[in-house]
Amino acid sequence: MAQHKSPAQGAPSAALNGRYAHVKGWGTANASIAMHNSELEKLVDTSHDWIVERTGISERRIANERESVVTLGVKAAQQALAKADMLPDEIELIIVATSTPYYYFPSTACLIQDKLGATNAGAFDIVAACTGFIYALGLASAQIKAGGVNTALIIGTETLSRIMDWQDRSTCILFGDGAGAFVLKVSDAPGGIQDVVMHSDGSGADLLYASTGIRETWDGDASEQRLYMNGREVFRFATRVMASATHEVVAKAGLTLDDIDVIVPHQANQRIIQAAAKTMKLPMERFFVNLDHYGNTSAASIPLAIGEAVEKGAIKAQDKIVLVGFGAGLTWGAALLEWDSIEEPPRSAVRELVRSAWYILARMRSFLSRVLRFLERVIFRPPGEVYGEKLDK
Ligand code: ACO
Repeated sequence: MAQHKSPAQGAPSAALNGRYAHVKGWGTANASIAMHNSELEKLVDTSHDWIVERTGISERRIANERESVVTLGVKAAQQALAKADMLPDEIELIIVATSTPYYYFPSTACLIQDKLGATNAGAFDIVAACTGFIYALGLASAQIKAGGVNTALIIGTETLSRIMDWQDRSTCILFGDGAGAFVLKVSDAPGGIQDVVMHSDGSGADLLYASTGIRETWDGDASEQRLYMNGREVFRFATRVMASATHEVVAKAGLTLDDIDVIVPHQANQRIIQAAAKTMKLPMERFFVNLDHYGNTSAASIPLAIGEAVEKGAIKAQDKIVLVGFGAGLTWGAALLEWDSIEEPPRSAVRELVRSAWYILARMRSFLSRVLRFLERVIFRPPGEVYGEKLDK
């Protein structure tokens, strides 16, 4: 496989030392509450027709009180592990892309790692807004190709409904909640993630930002919370970079747009996707779009769309796919991959059972670890420990 010189930043091309990174499993999780545009008409001065005409969105999913970025992420991850027929302890790296983490710290990735019982995995979050899943794919595939790990789980999970100002009609009509996941695995067979390009321009940070409770001074107003968006500027930026990132990743792989079977864009706005298609002189049929019933789920939107595209037969085995996204930062990027197979690998019934038991045991393990830590602290205080004691001068 030829290596293509490009000034672009990103994951190493196709393979490194004969190591390829393949998508072996994928999963999705939809939030439970379906919120139609007609519901928004009751909250703000808007209409179903306006929202559909300007965005293409009819409905979005909203997390109920029992759902969170963790539960949605775990559900998508469990599906992806089942499709890959792998156990959680086979995963060596977990990367979660989210703009709505459960805590500032610890990472949502660690919370998901614990729930899965992925005891051999390093875990961390990345914040690249709606481009997050592509960044995660770039990082994970580079780790696999470089030999750092053999397996990785990447998850895009969001509860944007929880940072939304439901009185602001210019933003609350756009967003929704959900999660999607990929399991990546090393292979010496050509295919999988070919190339990834990642970009940023922080000079546009003021065009789209969310400040969720971090005060500007230590004694400032703790109640401050805002999501600000300059819709028109973001729109202009998005149409430009969707086309440029797609061209770039295709050229980096030594291909042309004619070689690409399906483009799965970040699901922000139907008009942005149409404008990008026009710029690239591609028919809309080459793009997979499902934003009409999910809205913009940020880092979850691309894996959610992939899951649905595979289910509907819009993505077939050996298809060359471009994933392209943009978001706050500003960030943007694209990934080119070859879809291995839509056939689910033959799953062993025993491993299926072990997997189910694993998730129950993971909870017990987590509980026991906390108990042991407590006992260690209270009873088995190691000799020579100085914690809590005055140091001898
Ligand atoms: N219902 C009715 N009217 C509305 C609404 C609404 N929900 N929202 C705005 N309007 C009004 C405005 O007040 C304005 O009225 P005015 O002309 O009297 O001032 C008029 O509609 C037109 O407003 P625009 O902002 O020009 O509308 P536009 O056609 O640009 O559509 C939209 C707005 C849908 C927000 C569009 O700009 C957009 O989608 N931008 C990109 C946003 C995006 O994708 N953000 C996510 C990035 S990804 C991430 O990282 C999170």
